[in-house]
Amino acid sequence: MIMKKQSIYIAPSILSADLLQLKKQVEMLSENGADYIHVDVMDGHFVPNLTFGPNMVKALKRITSLPLDVHLMISNPDLYINDYIRAGADILTVHQEACTHLHRTIQSIHNHGVRAGVSLNPATSLSTVENVLDDMDLLLIMTVNPGFGGQKFIPQGLKKIAEARKMLDATGRDILLEVDGGVDNSTVESIVQHGADVLVSGSAIFGKQDIVAAMKTLKEKAEKA
Ligand code: DX5
Ligand code: ZN
Repeated sequence: MIMKKQSIYIAPSILSADLLQLKKQVEMLSENGADYIHVDVMDGHFVPNLTFGPNMVKALKRITSLPLDVHLMISNPDLYINDYIRAGADILTVHQEACTHLHRTIQSIHNHGVRAGVSLNPATSLSTVENVLDDMDLLLIMTVNPGFGGQKFIPQGLKKIAEARKMLDATGRDILLEVDGGVDNSTVESIVQHGADVLVSGSAIFGKQDIVAAMKTLKEKAEKA
Protein backbone atom coordinates (compact mmCIF):
# COMPACT_ATOMS: atom_id res chain seq x y z
CA MET A 1 0.00 0.00 0.00
CA ILE A 2 1.26 3.49 -0.81
CA MET A 3 1.60 5.89 2.10
CA LYS A 4 2.24 9.09 0.21
CA LYS A 5 -0.98 11.01 -0.47
CA GLN A 6 -0.96 12.23 -4.02
CA SER A 7 -3.35 14.66 -5.75
CA ILE A 8 -6.01 12.95 -7.81
CA TYR A 9 -7.05 14.19 -11.23
CA ILE A 10 -10.08 13.10 -13.23
CA ALA A 11 -9.96 12.83 -17.01
CA PRO A 12 -13.40 12.08 -18.49
CA SER A 13 -13.06 10.16 -21.76
CA ILE A 14 -15.29 11.53 -24.50
CA LEU A 15 -15.31 8.09 -26.13
CA SER A 16 -18.46 7.37 -24.13
CA ALA A 17 -20.01 10.83 -24.54
CA ASP A 18 -23.24 11.45 -26.41
CA LEU A 19 -21.73 12.95 -29.57
CA LEU A 20 -24.91 14.92 -30.27
CA GLN A 21 -24.52 16.53 -26.83
CA LEU A 22 -20.75 16.70 -26.82
CA LYS A 23 -20.38 20.47 -26.41
CA LYS A 24 -22.83 20.61 -23.53
CA GLN A 25 -21.36 17.58 -21.80
CA VAL A 26 -17.75 18.78 -22.07
CA GLU A 27 -18.72 22.24 -20.83
CA MET A 28 -20.63 20.80 -17.86
CA LEU A 29 -17.73 18.58 -16.82
CA SER A 30 -15.17 21.36 -17.40
CA GLU A 31 -17.11 23.75 -15.17
CA ASN A 32 -17.67 21.21 -12.41
CA GLY A 33 -14.31 19.80 -11.48
CA ALA A 34 -12.88 17.76 -14.36
CA ASP A 35 -9.09 18.17 -14.57
CA TYR A 36 -8.41 17.01 -18.14
CA ILE A 37 -10.47 16.00 -21.15
CA HIS A 38 -9.30 12.60 -22.40
CA VAL A 39 -9.52 12.03 -26.16
CA ASP A 40 -9.20 8.44 -27.38
CA VAL A 41 -7.82 8.30 -30.91
CA MET A 42 -8.20 4.91 -32.63
CA ASP A 43 -7.12 3.97 -36.13
CA GLY A 44 -8.76 0.59 -36.81
CA HIS A 45 -5.28 -0.92 -37.07
CA PHE A 46 -3.48 -0.68 -33.73
CA VAL A 47 -6.89 -1.25 -32.11
CA PRO A 48 -10.07 -2.69 -33.65
CA ASN A 49 -12.09 0.52 -33.60
CA LEU A 50 -12.11 3.95 -35.25
CA THR A 51 -12.66 7.28 -33.54
CA PHE A 52 -11.45 10.86 -33.64
CA GLY A 53 -9.09 12.80 -35.88
CA PRO A 54 -7.30 16.09 -35.16
CA ASN A 55 -10.47 18.04 -36.04
CA MET A 56 -12.08 16.75 -32.87
CA VAL A 57 -9.18 18.05 -30.79
CA LYS A 58 -9.42 21.40 -32.58
CA ALA A 59 -13.14 21.63 -31.86
CA LEU A 60 -12.72 20.70 -28.18
CA LYS A 61 -10.05 23.38 -27.81
CA ARG A 62 -12.69 26.00 -28.63
CA ILE A 63 -15.06 24.92 -25.88
CA THR A 64 -12.84 24.08 -22.90
CA SER A 65 -9.79 25.57 -21.24
CA LEU A 66 -8.90 22.24 -19.61
CA PRO A 67 -5.79 20.49 -20.88
CA LEU A 68 -6.58 18.04 -23.67
CA ASP A 69 -5.12 14.63 -22.85
CA VAL A 70 -4.85 12.91 -26.22
CA HIS A 71 -4.36 9.14 -26.16
CA LEU A 72 -3.12 7.90 -29.53
CA MET A 73 -4.04 4.25 -30.04
CA ILE A 74 -2.62 4.26 -33.54
CA SER A 75 0.16 2.63 -35.51
CA ASN A 76 2.98 4.90 -36.73
CA PRO A 77 2.13 7.75 -34.35
CA ASP A 78 5.14 9.74 -35.64
CA LEU A 79 3.15 10.47 -38.80
CA TYR A 80 0.40 12.27 -36.87
CA ILE A 81 2.14 13.96 -33.93
CA ASN A 82 2.31 17.33 -35.68
CA ASP A 83 -1.36 17.22 -36.62
CA TYR A 84 -2.59 16.52 -33.09
CA ILE A 85 -0.28 19.12 -31.57
CA ARG A 86 -1.30 21.75 -34.08
CA ALA A 87 -4.92 20.91 -33.26
CA GLY A 88 -4.30 21.70 -29.58
CA ALA A 89 -3.22 18.56 -27.69
CA ASP A 90 -1.66 19.50 -24.33
CA ILE A 91 -0.54 15.98 -23.45
CA LEU A 92 0.16 13.56 -26.27
CA THR A 93 0.40 9.89 -25.32
CA VAL A 94 1.70 7.19 -27.63
CA HIS A 95 1.74 3.45 -27.11
CA GLN A 96 5.08 1.84 -26.42
CA GLU A 97 3.94 -1.08 -28.62
CA ALA A 98 3.45 1.26 -31.59
CA CYS A 99 6.86 2.98 -31.41
CA THR A 100 10.02 1.50 -32.88
CA HIS A 101 12.07 4.45 -31.65
CA LEU A 102 10.21 5.51 -28.55
CA HIS A 103 12.90 7.88 -27.33
CA ARG A 104 12.86 9.72 -30.65
CA THR A 105 9.07 9.94 -30.60
CA ILE A 106 9.09 11.46 -27.11
CA GLN A 107 11.73 13.95 -28.21
CA SER A 108 9.67 14.99 -31.17
CA ILE A 109 6.61 15.61 -28.96
CA HIS A 110 8.80 17.68 -26.61
CA ASN A 111 10.24 19.64 -29.51
CA HIS A 112 6.75 21.06 -29.98
CA GLY A 113 6.56 22.09 -26.31
CA VAL A 114 3.92 19.51 -25.44
CA ARG A 115 3.95 16.98 -22.58
CA ALA A 116 4.68 13.42 -23.69
CA GLY A 117 2.96 10.32 -22.33
CA VAL A 118 3.70 6.65 -22.92
CA SER A 119 1.02 3.98 -22.63
CA LEU A 120 1.30 0.26 -21.98
CA ASN A 121 -1.21 -2.42 -22.92
CA PRO A 122 -2.14 -4.90 -20.18
CA ALA A 123 0.28 -7.53 -21.55
CA THR A 124 3.25 -5.16 -21.84
CA SER A 125 5.82 -5.09 -19.07
CA LEU A 126 6.91 -1.94 -17.25
CA SER A 127 10.50 -2.85 -18.06
CA THR A 128 9.86 -1.75 -21.68
CA VAL A 129 9.79 1.90 -20.57
CA GLU A 130 12.47 1.91 -17.92
CA ASN A 131 15.02 3.48 -20.28
CA VAL A 132 12.76 6.44 -21.10
CA LEU A 133 11.53 7.28 -17.60
CA ASP A 134 13.77 10.33 -17.48
CA ASP A 135 12.12 11.65 -20.62
CA MET A 136 8.39 11.04 -20.26
CA ASP A 137 5.88 13.26 -18.42
CA LEU A 138 3.12 10.70 -17.99
CA LEU A 139 2.83 6.93 -17.86
CA LEU A 140 -0.55 5.54 -18.90
CA ILE A 141 -1.34 2.05 -17.66
CA MET A 142 -4.15 0.39 -19.62
CA THR A 143 -6.31 -1.77 -17.38
CA VAL A 144 -8.42 -3.06 -20.27
CA ASN A 145 -7.30 -4.03 -23.75
CA PRO A 146 -7.61 -0.76 -25.65
CA GLY A 147 -10.30 -0.24 -28.26
CA PHE A 148 -13.61 0.07 -26.47
CA GLY A 149 -15.23 1.79 -23.53
CA GLY A 150 -17.25 -0.08 -20.94
CA GLN A 151 -14.96 -3.08 -20.48
CA LYS A 152 -14.21 -4.78 -17.19
CA PHE A 153 -11.13 -3.73 -15.21
CA ILE A 154 -8.37 -6.38 -15.43
CA PRO A 155 -7.45 -6.98 -11.76
CA GLN A 156 -3.79 -7.85 -12.47
CA GLY A 157 -3.45 -4.16 -13.34
CA LEU A 158 -3.33 -3.24 -9.65
CA LYS A 159 0.06 -4.86 -9.10
CA LYS A 160 1.37 -3.10 -12.18
CA ILE A 161 0.09 0.27 -10.92
CA ALA A 162 1.89 -0.25 -7.59
CA GLU A 163 5.12 -1.21 -9.35
CA ALA A 164 4.82 1.75 -11.69
CA ARG A 165 4.34 4.10 -8.73
CA LYS A 166 7.58 2.85 -7.20
CA MET A 167 9.43 3.20 -10.50
CA LEU A 168 8.17 6.74 -11.04
CA ASP A 169 8.88 7.84 -7.47
CA ALA A 170 12.41 6.48 -7.74
CA THR A 171 13.13 8.88 -10.61
CA GLY A 172 12.54 11.89 -8.33
CA ARG A 173 10.77 13.48 -11.28
CA ASP A 174 7.16 14.58 -11.39
CA ILE A 175 5.70 11.99 -13.77
CA LEU A 176 1.93 11.48 -13.76
CA LEU A 177 0.61 7.93 -13.39
CA GLU A 178 -2.61 7.63 -15.35
CA VAL A 179 -4.92 4.61 -15.32
CA ASP A 180 -7.37 3.96 -18.14
CA GLY A 181 -10.04 1.28 -18.46
CA GLY A 182 -12.76 0.05 -16.13
CA VAL A 183 -12.37 2.89 -13.64
CA ASP A 184 -15.70 3.03 -11.79
CA ASN A 185 -17.16 3.28 -8.28
CA SER A 186 -16.19 -0.28 -7.48
CA THR A 187 -12.56 -0.08 -8.66
CA VAL A 188 -11.55 3.54 -8.06
CA GLU A 189 -10.49 3.22 -4.42
CA SER A 190 -8.04 0.41 -4.91
CA ILE A 191 -6.69 2.00 -8.11
CA VAL A 192 -5.83 5.12 -6.11
CA GLN A 193 -4.52 3.16 -3.14
CA HIS A 194 -2.10 1.41 -5.47
CA GLY A 195 -0.73 4.75 -6.64
CA ALA A 196 -2.64 6.23 -9.61
CA ASP A 197 -2.93 9.99 -9.82
CA VAL A 198 -4.86 10.54 -13.06
CA LEU A 199 -8.06 8.54 -13.55
CA VAL A 200 -9.56 8.21 -17.01
CA SER A 201 -13.24 7.39 -16.95
CA GLY A 202 -15.67 6.96 -19.82
CA SER A 203 -18.72 4.82 -19.19
CA ALA A 204 -18.80 5.36 -15.41
CA ILE A 205 -19.41 9.07 -16.10
CA PHE A 206 -21.19 9.28 -19.46
CA GLY A 207 -23.24 6.14 -18.86
CA LYS A 208 -25.09 7.85 -16.01
CA GLN A 209 -28.09 10.15 -16.27
CA ASP A 210 -26.34 12.88 -14.26
CA ILE A 211 -22.78 12.98 -15.61
CA VAL A 212 -21.63 15.74 -13.25
CA ALA A 213 -22.86 13.85 -10.18
CA ALA A 214 -21.22 10.66 -11.47
CA MET A 215 -17.88 12.44 -11.93
CA LYS A 216 -18.10 14.07 -8.50
CA THR A 217 -18.87 10.76 -6.79
CA LEU A 218 -15.89 9.15 -8.52
CA LYS A 219 -13.58 12.00 -7.51
CA GLU A 220 -14.80 11.99 -3.91
CA LYS A 221 -14.22 8.27 -3.60
CA ALA A 222 -10.78 8.71 -5.13
CA GLU A 223 -9.84 11.54 -2.77
CA LYS A 224 -10.97 9.59 0.30
CA ALA A 225 -9.17 6.40 -0.71
C1 DX5 B 1 -10.15 2.34 -24.10
C2 DX5 B 1 -9.90 3.83 -23.94
C3 DX5 B 1 -10.46 4.39 -22.70
C4 DX5 B 1 -11.95 4.23 -22.55
C5 DX5 B 1 -12.22 3.93 -21.11
O1 DX5 B 1 -9.49 1.86 -25.22
O2 DX5 B 1 -8.52 4.13 -23.96
O3 DX5 B 1 -10.07 5.73 -22.48
O4 DX5 B 1 -12.68 5.36 -22.93
O5 DX5 B 1 -13.55 3.62 -20.98
P1 DX5 B 1 -14.20 3.07 -19.66
O6 DX5 B 1 -13.96 4.09 -18.58
O7 DX5 B 1 -15.63 2.92 -20.01
O8 DX5 B 1 -13.51 1.76 -19.35
ZN1 ZN C 1 -7.79 6.29 -23.30
